Amino acid sequence: MTKLSTPAASSHLFDFKGTIESKSKTVTTPNPEQTDICECSVVSAKDFSFYYGKTTGVKNISMEIFPCRVTAIIGPSGCGKSTFLRSINRMNDLIPATRATGILEVNGQNIYDKRTNLVNLRQQVGMVFQKPNPFAKSIFDNVAYGPRLQGIRNRTKLEGLVEECLKSSALWDEVKDNLDKSALALSGGQQQRLCIARALATNPRVLLMDEPCSALDPLATARIEDLIEQLKTQYTIIIVTHNMQQAARVSEHAAFFCLGELIEYDLTPKLFTNPSHKQTEDYITGRFG
Ligand SMILES: Nc1ncnc2c1ncn2[C@@H]1O[C@H](COP(=O)(O)OP(=O)(O)O)[C@@H](O)[C@H]1O
Ligand SMILES: [Mg+2]
Repeated sequence: MTKLSTPAASSHLFDFKGTIESKSKTVTTPNPEQTDICECSVVSAKDFSFYYGKTTGVKNISMEIFPCRVTAIIGPSGCGKSTFLRSINRMNDLIPATRATGILEVNGQNIYDKRTNLVNLRQQVGMVFQKPNPFAKSIFDNVAYGPRLQGIRNRTKLEGLVEECLKSSALWDEVKDNLDKSALALSGGQQQRLCIARALATNPRVLLMDEPCSALDPLATARIEDLIEQLKTQYTIIIVTHNMQQAARVSEHAAFFCLGELIEYDLTPKLFTNPSHKQTEDYITGRFG
């Protein structure tokens, strides 16, 4: 799989030239001793909180998320998993009366800085939802949507991009003869892979997945999990899942959230077999949640 040849990720979040000062050092990494992950994190939260009016979505989240691996976020319902995920591409902005405090950086830039270009941010931080949500357009037009927004009009170039993304999302062989067919005619699992192809088409650095398999049957789920395994070589993947077996299968790092707070963040096998916090242990052993 080759990475799409649109411009490099890091320079596009801001429309201005300037530096963002670096902040406190109190961030959690999954395994400080493991030197091969002491590279630059792609997503970095520092005392990040998010509120819906008076309701707290997440509070004081500090964590570093590293490239080319899968980070799973687990925790009971209502503990802020989706809030945190949606904060990473500012999807929560669409909800009135919301407020963010602290710092949330993507590629070293605080995305809650008022100068952030949201279109660019969302092209760099793609999102896949629980329920597949293809547009009521052809398969081709779904994948070409983002590149067209980016100004790509050349048909040959668009065809190349669409093919590449559909291959990357393991859907090409099933749809290559029917690219003009409505995306809504695809099965649920195919639709979800199409949504992944659509997200890849803007050449994101980060892929956010909010319970991407919970509306799928076991076979379609297995295909998405295989796909995640392939995609992680090139993308930073953050997946929310309530399925702990899935988290254990697909992720290298796992974060346990509870009541809006990050309780524990560690290498996945450690978090599942030898958690440091009783709350984590109670959750993974099924005592609550
Ligand atoms: N659109 C919203 N408006 C108001 N409160 C919300 C909204 N979305 C989530 N919340 C609240 O934020 C908290 C975290 O929710 P959420 O992030 O959806 O949790 P999870 O994904 O872990 O189930 C909950 O108390 C929830 O009620
Ligand atoms: Mg959720």
